[in-house]
Amino acid sequence: MTAACTVLSDLFAVENGHTLEVARKHGAYETVGPMLFDKSQFELIEWVLDSGLRGRGGAGFPTGLKWRTVPRKMGKPVYLVINADEGEPGTFKDRFCMEKDPHKLIEGMIIAGFALNVRTAYIYVRGEMLPQIRRLNEALKECYAAGLLGENIQGSRYSLDIYVHRGAGAYICGEETALINSLEGYKGQPRLKPPFPTVSGAFANPTCVNNVETIMALPWILKNGPQAYRQWGTERSPGTKLFSISGDIGKPGVYEIPLGMPMLEFFDLAGGVDGELLGCIPGGSSAPVLNKEECETCTMDYEALGALKSMLGSGAVMPFNTTRDPVRILEPIAHFYAHESCGQCTPCREGTGYADRVFQRIVAGEGRAGDVDMFFDLAANFEWTTICPLATADAWAIKSFVSKFREHFDKYIDASSRKADERELADLRPGGFM
Ligand SMILES: Cc1cc2nc3c(=O)[nH]c(=O)nc-3n(C[C@H](O)[C@H](O)[C@H](O)COP(=O)(O)O)c2cc1C
Ligand code: SF4
Repeated sequence: MTAACTVLSDLFAVENGHTLEVARKHGAYETVGPMLFDKSQFELIEWVLDSGLRGRGGAGFPTGLKWRTVPRKMGKPVYLVINADEGEPGTFKDRFCMEKDPHKLIEGMIIAGFALNVRTAYIYVRGEMLPQIRRLNEALKECYAAGLLGENIQGSRYSLDIYVHRGAGAYICGEETALINSLEGYKGQPRLKPPFPTVSGAFANPTCVNNVETIMALPWILKNGPQAYRQWGTERSPGTKLFSISGDIGKPGVYEIPLGMPMLEFFDLAGGVDGELLGCIPGGSSAPVLNKEECETCTMDYEALGALKSMLGSGAVMPFNTTRDPVRILEPIAHFYAHESCGQCTPCREGTGYADRVFQRIVAGEGRAGDVDMFFDLAANFEWTTICPLATADAWAIKSFVSKFREHFDKYIDASSRKADERELADLRPGGFM
């Protein structure tokens, strides 16, 4: 892990930084006292809004704006649910956070919980993240023993309980409404929106779902103020962000950098691209791929990537060099989305699978003339036609790879046509007919 700034990652390299004792020596839970409890909920929500913090789970929705929509005083319980499912291919920052600094997440949850009038909160963790689940449970135990959780936290009138809930490892359970279904014990399938979870979520009560990294920024913002957070980043993408970088890069890992950093500068920070850059997936497999020219001009923020019709997504950056075949990079991605479809919507259930089968035919050298166009058109047909954006994410991946690296796809068709011609010629040779 390397950092260009340390709002989130100050404890990542500290020995035993995951323990309460060491974390406290480095300032953990300083906000849990008058700094928090002397503020009103309204004031806290406005602070988060002023900081410009945006959700780090993928959509980049302004956190303060989401919090504003939570009906806190309707007499119904309000739930806070931390999305720690982290299933987006290429993403490994949240598991790193929970393992290295679980107390920052808990402190952030106390702040969010107080601001939103929450009495019960959940951390929904991908089931196979066992080391992280252990760390979280140990950290929670330490907090209860130290009076940082439970009844009347630190002698205040605020009480909060936090539970770790293990998912079963389905990608779709990272989508917030599927996550809520799964938390309630139902099949992990997305719900139609509206109603949005902030109004009717877990157990039909107001529920705020936030990503691990989003919530971990809160202690720093509360200590230093919303304007200080804006010393990094751009006007509309303020602050710092964790990026997980892998692929053809010198030093893969998790990096905290200010938003707005040029992509090439980030590559240099991460040890430089291995070989000659061909392209990059900038925000997890759902984010449309960029070609070399786009990588050279873009910066790591929501607006710059949006302007290129891609997105910052979950911050999983995957550069690849000229020795790679983009067709082979897309192959597991298209298969992944077909496999992870929850099956509720016909365009997703049938479309992602059909596109995958056409693609497998192309890759196997059995492609027919027109298959690449059909592959592209199929994807275009299931974009934005479904309950959740899973099918759209598949469509974006397919459409961007085909349009930016078309010649690589055509080579497979040319090769399969040659094979077909050779077969036909072999049949025409004397003795070729049986
Ligand atoms: C298919 C799919 C998978 C998702 N997976 C995750 C995930 O693993 N973690 C996450 O925080 N958000 C994920 N999201 C986004 C969540 O639905 C939601 O927007 C997010 O948790 C809200 O938190 P934030 O505002 O702090 O970003 C996913 C969305 C979709 C459509
Ligand atoms: S788009 Fe796919 S994953 Fe999403 S709800 Fe529909 S079938 Fe399920």
